[in-house]
Amino acid sequence: MSGARSRKRTILVTGGAGFIGSTIVRQYLVQTDVTIVNIDKLTYAGNIDSLGSLRNHPRHQFHKVDIGDRTEVDRVLAEHRPDAIMNLAAESHVDRSIEGHGAFIETNIVGTYSLLESVRSYWNDLDPGSRKHFRFHHVSTDEVFGDLGHEGRPANETTPYAPSSPYSSTKASSDHLVRAWARTYGLPVVITNCSNNYGPYQFPEKLIPLMILNAMEGRPLPVYGRGENVRDWLYVEDHADALRLVLAQGETGRTYNIGGRSEKTNLEVVQAVCELLDRLAPDPNGRHDRLIQYVKDRPGHDLRYAIDDSRIRRELGWQPCETFASGLERTVRWYLDNTTWVERVRTGAYREWIESNYGHRGPAE
Ligand code: NAD
Ligand code: TYD
Repeated sequence: MSGARSRKRTILVTGGAGFIGSTIVRQYLVQTDVTIVNIDKLTYAGNIDSLGSLRNHPRHQFHKVDIGDRTEVDRVLAEHRPDAIMNLAAESHVDRSIEGHGAFIETNIVGTYSLLESVRSYWNDLDPGSRKHFRFHHVSTDEVFGDLGHEGRPANETTPYAPSSPYSSTKASSDHLVRAWARTYGLPVVITNCSNNYGPYQFPEKLIPLMILNAMEGRPLPVYGRGENVRDWLYVEDHADALRLVLAQGETGRTYNIGGRSEKTNLEVVQAVCELLDRLAPDPNGRHDRLIQYVKDRPGHDLRYAIDDSRIRRELGWQPCETFASGLERTVRWYLDNTTWVERVRTGAYREWIESNYGHRGPAE
């Protein structure tokens, strides 16, 4: 959305070499005159390749820093004096959080706490004018609202938190910390909670890129349980537009839910991927949906998430540009055209994860 303006000149983005973070960084560099300071630990999920030549853009400063490293974050803040901070750095994959939650506690809870303390100290020392305009934008997820069941109303900004997984509970914790720092210390914050994103540069452990790549390569498409779980899908560029809009024009202290109004069962999503590939990259061995395999379900698997995004639409005038059909086609075409990026991210660590998550899963009951 071209209306997403920024009144800030230097924005510090955390997690800016991840899927959504790199999309935000690309948008700011290409569509605005903002300077971006990008801090990222570059875990398995962070790929500086995702920024391509923009990595060396004169308005882009990259620092390989952990948000939980107080000394380094303080140093970056002192060096670059940002007008705003957008916090996307997180461990983000539910299945990994089930297998090993330590990194989720460390980054999503303790890391956010440490970042908040760095930011509070920096903000306290700003001159009154800069203090007034400063913003800390915490990027969160619809998974904090937990399982809505088939009948539950889409979550709005007053829906109580009820996270189910180690991932969502650590994101919920971080949201609570951010709110507490706003209320107790007056830190000017905004929080956004968004539904499932998809699009180019998504790490191929998440449903849509995993299915695209497996189908392209004639490998099984592992659908958990019966494939009836529902997610609300939003194209990543639309999410990034919404984030820039909230940072520029959202009300301090307010939360905005962002969603795609595009609820689909996992089976519908996988079928849609298969149909697109049947058209764009036909397989001589037959239709891609022959590869679907129902495998043992994820423990604690939430049946349904859905977002009521009427606040951001009404108050800030945001709406997505892509439908699910148009966004998915763009995504599938991107993965077909960008095999070099795919090969670079599928390192040994990636292959180990695929073996540990799918190797012993067995068929669905
Ligand atoms: P991602 O896993 O692709 O990227 C996360 C990035 O954070 C990576 O570049 C990683 O290297 C970096 N990182 C991890 N730990 C770090 C640390 N301690 N210090 C600094 N950097 C660190 O995730 P994503 O999908 O781009 O999600 C970004 C944010 O948006 C997350 O906070 C996530 O909870 C939230 N979110 C994601 C979705 C989605 O569908 N992907 C939806 C709603 C909200
Ligand atoms: P995912 O992309 O991991 O996002 P989240 O769990 O954060 O919503 O998964 C989306 C849905 O797809 C979720 O219901 C789990 C399901 N899923 C599968 O059926 N098979 C898979 O191999 C993966 C990774 C996910």
